Amino acid sequence: MFGHSQREIRRLTDQAAMVRPITERLMQNVKIAPGMRVLDLGCGAGDVSMLAAKLVGPTGEALGIDRNKDVLAVAAERARVAGFPQIRFEQAPAETFWHGQPFDFVIGRYVLVHQSDPIEFIRTAARRVKRGGSIAFHEIRLRQNLDS
Ligand SMILES: C[S@@+](CC[C@H](N)C(=O)[O-])C[C@H]1O[C@@H](n2cnc3c(N)ncnc32)[C@H](O)[C@@H]1O
Repeated sequence: MFGHSQREIRRLTDQAAMVRPITERLMQNVKIAPGMRVLDLGCGAGDVSMLAAKLVGPTGEALGIDRNKDVLAVAAERARVAGFPQIRFEQAPAETFWHGQPFDFVIGRYVLVHQSDPIEFIRTAARRVKRGGSIAFHEIRLRQNLDS
């Protein structure tokens, strides 16, 4: 598991800039709209939360969850500077976080790859979404079956 040194945070934000069009397309495909509530699991420095905040607008809500408080401090400052009052960040393990209000959309980017039980993590995400809502994970494929 990566730590969250300044160097790692910089790596995360550089990576986020590169893959941003993919995440944006994913959000457009699930039709994130103004007023919606979005949960970002393993939000890191807040890049996905900020993309969501832009789409849900000031009447919506984006909540970023991460278990690391150092990276969340960076995320909160970036969201403040970018002018997104509709974003909140909270330190918690994604597995145990729950406020009782289901979300319209639950997303995670490059977070499944860090889980010992990714299937259970997806189940957790599914429990956080309201009926008719969506969950999506933006991940990388680490292995390739050369026979296929
Ligand atoms: C590779 S970073 C990706 C950050 C962000 N999603 C992005 O794409 O820029 C993974 C983040 O997920 C967090 N994380 C991993 N497993 C977690 C869990 N079970 N609960 C909460 N946060 C988790 C880590 O602390 C880290 O900040």
